[in-house]
Amino acid sequence: MNLIKKMLAAHAAVLALWAVSAQAATDDAVAERIKPVGEVCVMGQECKGVGAVAAAAGGGARTPDDIIAKHCGACHTAGVLGAPKIGDTAAWKERADHQGGLDGILAKAISGINSMPPKGTCADCTDDELKEAIKKMSGL
Ligand code: HEC
Repeated sequence: MNLIKKMLAAHAAVLALWAVSAQAATDDAVAERIKPVGEVCVMGQECKGVGAVAAAAGGGARTPDDIIAKHCGACHTAGVLGAPKIGDTAAWKERADHQGGLDGILAKAISGINSMPPKGTCADCTDDELKEAIKKMSGL
């Protein structure tokens, strides 16, 4: 190998090292940028980041609590307009008995009844989601 080739080879080695450390710096920068998300989501604890992502992705992962908090609680927490209250199982049971069970009041919740708006304002709720929300509110 002549001198020029040796120098070029040495240069290439330095360049390669530089490229590796530059890549490492980039990885650090990326790790730093994504860190807050990793910190918010701790196993066994509520993870708001994941919930927000799921909601943004179309809401398939909504829990009954999410739906109740967002749509039903406005009336059913305090019993606004005569709505059966959350946790007042006797009141819900009386209604269910009149409508032929849980599926009967589910049907009324879907169609709306008096001051109760159709689907309780959750227009994109599936029947199953409404049913789970009703179960949760009523304890039935
Ligand atoms: C704007 C207020 C309001 C909201 C929001 C609301 N409800 Fe209601 N709901 C009522 C009222 C008022 C009644 C009682 C209607 C009546 O019998 O006159 C009622 C009754 C019901 C009943 C009993 C129906 C029956 O056959 O007796 C169910 C089930 C129900 N709501 C489910 C829900 C669910 C699930 C949500 C949320 C997705 C919801 N509601 C949101 C006001 C509301």
